[in-house]
Parts: sequence; structure tokens; C-alpha cells
Amino acid sequence: MMHEAITALKEGRFVLIYDFDNRERETDLVIRSDTIRHNDILRMRKDGGGLICTAVHPDAAKALGLPFASDVFSRCGELGEKEGEIPYDRKNHSSFSLWVNHRETFTGITDHDRALTISKIAEHVRSAMNGGSLPPFGKEFRTPGHSALLRAADDLLDQRQGQTELSIALALMAGITPAVTVCEMLDDETGNALEKEKARAYGEDHGFPFVTGEEIIEAWQAWKASQ
Ligand code: 5RP
Ligand code: CA
Ligand code: ZN
Repeated sequence: MMHEAITALKEGRFVLIYDFDNRERETDLVIRSDTIRHNDILRMRKDGGGLICTAVHPDAAKALGLPFASDVFSRCGELGEKEGEIPYDRKNHSSFSLWVNHRETFTGITDHDRALTISKIAEHVRSAMNGGSLPPFGKEFRTPGHSALLRAADDLLDQRQGQTELSIALALMAGITPAVTVCEMLDDETGNALEKEKARAYGEDHGFPFVTGEEIIEAWQAWKASQ
């Protein structure tokens, strides 16, 4: 299934990434950001229902000046994330960075506005990964906004094993710009995270490859050894 997942990601189709039985136990709908369209946002909010976020490579995040939200909000006194308080990820803070809108959006929340913001984020990530030739990120985007950015850990999967790092690792293996948009799948009947087997069945029904964190880590280690 890894091969199918890499191919689907490359081709701009959805992939389903389940993390781990001992972590969030969530499946995200995952798609490359540079070719994202408004109907992809529609699917994520209808079939996923979680938060639509764009994960970016740490080198690009640094070059673009995108901090971890936990670092920014640590200045908010009691409101900040406290060390070790995330129940499924005690060694790390969340991967949230800022929330942005492209300056050419209207409200920023429509499917069209979010597709514009996200695809333009990917342009900046691609440029940053290649030495950076675009105007500063802040010229084109404003925060706060309606598209959440996630910053992958510096050492990627060696450091943190969230869908943020899993999706960026998949992008690197696919040879695409490491800006990947993700959305958790929730269950409309229970209000909880969609169970793994239900997510897998959804993938089969829609032709979206379903891969687990374990499968991605195994492929990632082999891929890194071959580089
Ligand atoms: C942002 C999240 C999601 O769970 C997303 O999958 C990224 O987070 P993580 O890397 O922690 O899995 O919370 O909506
Ligand atoms: Ca997750
Ligand atoms: Zn989450």
C-alpha cells in the first residue's frame, strides 16, 4: 500500500494516514498542497470534519519565519501549552504554527479562499526549499487567518511521530514540495475520531490508499538509508 500512497500523493489524490494505536488513533485525509482545489477542501470538511491544516517542512518553516504557536503563546501566561500536557505526545508540544490567510482572500474560510491560501503557501515552501526567491511570506499572507499551519519537528520522524511528520516524510519520499494538507476524520454518528477500520473502509470505497504510521516509518527508514 505504501507504493500506492506515494503515487496517489504525487498525483494530487487523497491518501489516508492513520497514526498509531498508542497515539491519537486518528486517520487524516491527506493531500499535496500545491495542486489543492476548492473541491478538495469541500471533501475534507464534509468527509473529514476535523481541522484543515497544512504541514510544512521545518527548513521551510524556519526560512519563512513560521514559529511554533506554543513558542508564541508561551507569552500568554497561563494560556500557554504546558510541558508534557498533551496526553498522546508528552515529549513534544503540538505542531501548530500560525493561522494565515492569503491577502487576496475575502473572508478566508470559503473553500475557494482556503484553496488559494494553501496553494500559495506551497509556492512559498517550494521556493524556500530551493533557496528562496519570492517576496517575504508576510507580504502575501496575514495572521490571524483561517488556514492553520503545522510545523514539522526538526528531526522529522526521529523526533515526533504525528501526522505532521508522517505526511512530510511521505512528501519527501514522493519527491514533491513538502507542504501537505491534512484533516482528521471524525465519525458523524459518535462524534469521536473515526475508527481505524471505518477509515480503511472509506478509503476502499473511494480509492484512497490507507497507510499507517508504522508502514510510513518502515518505508522512511529504508528510503533514508538509500539516499
Ligand atoms: C491538527 C491536528 C492533527 O492531529 C494533525 O494530524 C496534525 O497533528 P499531529 O502531527 O499531532 O498528528 O491536531 O488538526
Ligand atoms: Ca494527528
Ligand atoms: Zn489532532
